Amino acid sequence: LKATMVIDREFQISAVDPRIYGSFIEHLGRAVYGGIYEPDHPLADERGFRTDVMELVKQLNVPIIRYPGGNFVSGYNWEDGVGPVDKRPRRLELAWRSIETNQVGTNEFVEWAKSVNSEVMMAVNLGTRGIDAARNLVEYCNHPGGTYWSDLRISHGYRKPHRIKIWCLGNEMDGPWQIGHKTAEEYGRLAVETARAMKMVDPEIELVSCGSSGSSMPTFPEWEAVTLEHTYDEVDYISLHSYYGNRNNDTPSFLAKSLDMDQYIRTVIATCDYIKAKKRSKKTLYLSFDEWNVWYHSNEADKNIEPWLVAPPLLEDVYNFEDALLVGCMLITLLKHADRVKIACLAQLVNVIAPIMTENGGKAWKQTIYYPFLHASTYGRGTVLNPVVSSPKYDCAEFTDVPYLESVAVYNEEREELTIFAVNRHLAEPLLLQCDARSFENYRVIEHIILEHEDLKAVNTAEEERVKPHHNGNAEMREGMVTASLPKASWNVIRLK
Ligand code: AHR
Repeated sequence: LKATMVIDREFQISAVDPRIYGSFIEHLGRAVYGGIYEPDHPLADERGFRTDVMELVKQLNVPIIRYPGGNFVSGYNWEDGVGPVDKRPRRLELAWRSIETNQVGTNEFVEWAKSVNSEVMMAVNLGTRGIDAARNLVEYCNHPGGTYWSDLRISHGYRKPHRIKIWCLGNEMDGPWQIGHKTAEEYGRLAVETARAMKMVDPEIELVSCGSSGSSMPTFPEWEAVTLEHTYDEVDYISLHSYYGNRNNDTPSFLAKSLDMDQYIRTVIATCDYIKAKKRSKKTLYLSFDEWNVWYHSNEADKNIEPWLVAPPLLEDVYNFEDALLVGCMLITLLKHADRVKIACLAQLVNVIAPIMTENGGKAWKQTIYYPFLHASTYGRGTVLNPVVSSPKYDCAEFTDVPYLESVAVYNEEREELTIFAVNRHLAEPLLLQCDARSFENYRVIEHIILEHEDLKAVNTAEEERVKPHHNGNAEMREGMVTASLPKASWNVIRLK
């Protein structure tokens, strides 16, 4: 089986916006309490943050982290989470039917994010609240001082403003499960008026309009068209969310689901550009793919979790090897759309559908999906080159014409490095990759990293890391031609310099 690819330093899609390697922490399950924050843990710092978790997050090099939700934000009073910790209320948290203790709130999260070298992408509540709470939060976070809300922040011990730049106007407001769910008209009106008030407080901020909570929603893409009619001039991005699963144990279809993601991105771009044309606007809207991942393993277990617990183990998917392959395909898909996708958040980061897991009081460990994300975030910085790929294809239950090879290349001019990311979707045979890279003729392979495993269902645990990359790939470069054997069902990172 053979696939060919042509890349050239002149065939450029776009610079990679580092924020496509963003992630997400929601007040949900053990993401915050028992995840990033566990004051009684032996490795907690003086603020209660687990240093072992911080280390694993730092390695992933995540430039931006969305917070505090998710469905959670649509019932959240941000004022509950600031000021003296012992005075903060315990609340019924309706989205996940838990108890929220508010021991961590805006200021603590901003501090934590700084410690892991990330910026915060803040979401405001457009479910139970609206313009007033949102503009006050912007004032609390971003205004230097001398006003009620900014002085309150200062009195809470934060003299300098947080200068949070990116703000989400609500979360999944098209979803009937959302607290304060809205029609497209209702959301569009509320979002645009909230946007205006927030920008009056701080004109430097950038805003994300809520897109559909997935492309299978019955209101997609009409939701995008109707809401953007209202918000287009005031916002900079529109959100996309997508989770995939392998419920029928049909791996060929599962690994092809990044094609669905690709089509979803194309449709949202088309809808944005339709509104741009309709408005005779000069502005191009960008995409914020601010929730994406595999999510399905924990669905059944979650049904048995009692309501009204503090930090119950919700959405704790244990990822297997094939999940890491799809995550790799999804990363490649995001990179191929680097001209329009400027922000993306792997949902989520710790314990809740996450690359990093913790035991309460115990270890922190890496799931299988940690690795493709790590590699893309580490080596996928620079300029995305448009890959001209010719690959054998397959048909499966859910898709036709699925290429066995999923691949893209990123050129890092600063470091003079070229990286080819490639997934071989074939479950039984290796794929010979021949990549014509003649504009990099004098380059040599420095490393060919591979993630592979005999068992598609192999998982990692706190005790044993069964799925981890090795560096024994056989890629080589001769006279401008890269050749490599991509093992059956594998994620590959071919680094050249
Ligand atoms: O990430 C988990 C949940 O998925 C989020 O709270 C919600 O926005 C989405 O439905």
